[in-house]
Amino acid sequence: MLKNIKQNANTVDKFIKNYFNMQKYSELIPAMKYGTLFGGKKIRSTIILNTSKIFNINFNQIINVCAAVECIHSYSLIHDDLPCMDNDRLRRGKPSTHIKFGESTAILAGNSLLTLAFEMIADQKFKLDTNIKLNLIKKLSECAGHVGIAGGQFLDLNYEKKNINFKKVINMQRKKTGKLFEFCCLAPAIVAKKNIKTQKEMSKVGEELGLLFQIADDLLDVKGSKKSTGKPVKKDKKKGKSTLIKLYGYKKTLGFALDRKKTIINKLKKYGQKSNKLIEVSDFILNRSF
Ligand code: IPE
Ligand code: IPE
Ligand code: MG
Ligand code: MG
Ligand code: MG
Repeated sequence: MLKNIKQNANTVDKFIKNYFNMQKYSELIPAMKYGTLFGGKKIRSTIILNTSKIFNINFNQIINVCAAVECIHSYSLIHDDLPCMDNDRLRRGKPSTHIKFGESTAILAGNSLLTLAFEMIADQKFKLDTNIKLNLIKKLSECAGHVGIAGGQFLDLNYEKKNINFKKVINMQRKKTGKLFEFCCLAPAIVAKKNIKTQKEMSKVGEELGLLFQIADDLLDVKGSKKSTGKPVKKDKKKGKSTLIKLYGYKKTLGFALDRKKTIINKLKKYGQKSNKLIEVSDFILNRSF
């Protein structure tokens, strides 16, 4: 699995790098490159590519979607590390973008990555039906905006140092992380023109994978190392973040995550052999050390 993730990361990095090089130059490009390339698992791309296998979608029909999602994800990390948010100085083993380039540049580079994502999907050279592109852009906007990442990030900060119940914590995590994963599993189904029922099923699987991913990230904050994660650890408790670990402790949270993983894998099994690679990622999400 690890090899698969690394190969996909290299391919997507190459595509993004090339895309940057084709853009008109601006002073923000170095910070944009810094925040997207040079590290990061690009696991959302692996999820998109592995879901594409289920629906017989080929590389050229989906690569711009992978790059777009990675730009949005990287923008969310650049902003997540800012002093007004999580105030973290280390990301992917390097100084965070605002430490390297300054706060205002980091904010603007983040904004530019967010809009670049939509440019990548709308691109004339990306040969998909206009209606499919519109649908992708609509869904991706939703997943990134106030009912997705941005809204979830608001709640994450708003819930610091408060007693927040299980339902609210899960809802916050679904938004800040689940929604972009939802898009990753939905996008190939949209490109393949699958019916609404299948699209809904894939959305659900994606959202569940994202929730699992965030819980794993919270577990790594407790038991992981700065060296392998490339970011500060043991920071959630200090900041009073509302996580399942805060509510139930490490062991119970891990058990909860394992149960959810089983449910996801059972759902995926109905797609037969073609879903094997996506099942492997689901395992990786909980077993990872980075
Ligand atoms: C970290 O995401 C932020 C979360 C949503 C938990 P990743 O773990 O995917 O970060 P990179 O891209 O690999 O650095
Ligand atoms: C970030 O969650 C989620 C985003 C959508 C950016 P965290 O704040 O836990 O991510 P890390 O631990 O800083 O990577
Ligand atoms: Mg955060
Ligand atoms: Mg953070
Ligand atoms: Mg975290």
